[in-house]
Amino acid sequence: MRRPRFRTQAAALAAVALVGGGLVFAGGRADAATTAYEAESATITAGVVESNHAGYLGSGFVNTDNAVGSAVQWSPQAVAGSATLRFRFANGTTVNRPMRITVNGTDVSGAVTFAGTGAWTTWQEATVTATLRAGTNTVLATATTANGGPNLDRLTVVDGATTPPPTGVTPVAQNGQLRVCGVKLCNRYGQPIQLRGMSTHGLQWYPQCVNDASLDALAGDWGADHVRLSMYVQEGGYETNPRLFTDRMHTLIEQVSARGMYVIVDWHQLTPGDPNANLAMAKTFFTEIAQRHGSKPNILYDVANEPNETPWSRIKAYHEAIIPVVRAADPDAVILLGTHGWASLGVSDGGSETDIINNPVNATNIMYTFHFYAGSHGTEYLNTLSRAADRIPVFVTEFGTQTASGDGANNFTRSQQYLDLMAQKKISWTNWNYSDDSRSGAVFTPGTCPNGPYAGTSRLKPAGVWVRDHIRTPADNFPSS
Ligand code: GCU
Ligand code: CA
Repeated sequence: MRRPRFRTQAAALAAVALVGGGLVFAGGRADAATTAYEAESATITAGVVESNHAGYLGSGFVNTDNAVGSAVQWSPQAVAGSATLRFRFANGTTVNRPMRITVNGTDVSGAVTFAGTGAWTTWQEATVTATLRAGTNTVLATATTANGGPNLDRLTVVDGATTPPPTGVTPVAQNGQLRVCGVKLCNRYGQPIQLRGMSTHGLQWYPQCVNDASLDALAGDWGADHVRLSMYVQEGGYETNPRLFTDRMHTLIEQVSARGMYVIVDWHQLTPGDPNANLAMAKTFFTEIAQRHGSKPNILYDVANEPNETPWSRIKAYHEAIIPVVRAADPDAVILLGTHGWASLGVSDGGSETDIINNPVNATNIMYTFHFYAGSHGTEYLNTLSRAADRIPVFVTEFGTQTASGDGANNFTRSQQYLDLMAQKKISWTNWNYSDDSRSGAVFTPGTCPNGPYAGTSRLKPAGVWVRDHIRTPADNFPSS
């Protein structure tokens, strides 16, 4: 898996606009975008962030000063139109703690009183409706009495739909919030499931292949269960413009979610191979992603793509540093952990899954990642995957039918052996990659993006035809009780 995944020609793609945005699925109204904004990340006037009363979400809450004028101001993103604003709060007294709520300067307070909730650890939501504008809005809550406001935990904004809701029964609608049970990935009923989906190419190179039309094809024509959004850190990725790439990720998460698929948020660190080198940036990135999307049921965090030439103990230390950051804002998400040797469970670095079994990451609801390229990785890798999957939770977040460069001849015979094993053991898998790069592992022929057509097989290379077929057939048959 030591592969240059990048295009050698410096592609000038910065001008390519991502389409869509603001679309989304979330619990409740499947046609509406639901986004949470923590009070502790908002602008606070006369108040402090605290965490001494349990039950808050994110990393704490705001204790507003007990005075007129103490305030919290959020800046939610929205599409234009009517929206619901939910303020999560606690008031351990028996006296109302009213606040004036303004949205873009207009008072929308209505009957919000922030009455006593019975205890400072008992959190409730107060709801107002308001008209939001497209883009950034200002939501300001200001205490109007000398008691100040309640303790404020978060603002949740439910804004209007911009795309039709997913039709039919989507993977997320069926399976809901996933969790790890034993060594398996399980759905809302606690039943083991296998997800089959696609990874994008690097989002710095191929954003033009991830748009409404291509995602419609992936969800509908292909029947994919998930999309891995591959955001490189180096090689022209995140580190060059954190704001741009984080916003790109936000938009794509909404677009994938709107189609009822799971999202793997891939922190595609690769060079350098030690994930600790990017830890500070990873903390910033995952904090914002988890705070924005943690209330969705369909997010999986892939926190280190392919650690390499780094001892497992150091990789484990990175995981134990980043997991709490994700958990602070998204306590119940499954977190996927990169393994040594380019996510080979150690094999490509001269190790094995035993390194992990003997020294596992100290956390729950986690899975270890495995990548393979069937043209390069034979029996040793296949046997490792088989052995490991009986001992530790494994998620294949990347595989190719060709060589480890993502190019060269396909080996469909060996690919089939891997797929048979993964079907038998319910190991979820993700194929690399959903783009029109020239390499054999990119499913579309060059020039397909951005206009398609994406559905059907007319623009697919042989690997694309093969993997589409294996996502479509057998059709998903998720346990429903
Ligand atoms: C207590 C409580 C705080 C709260 C305050 C108040 O001190 O611990 O969390 O904000 O009362 O009355 O506002
Ligand atoms: Ca207070």
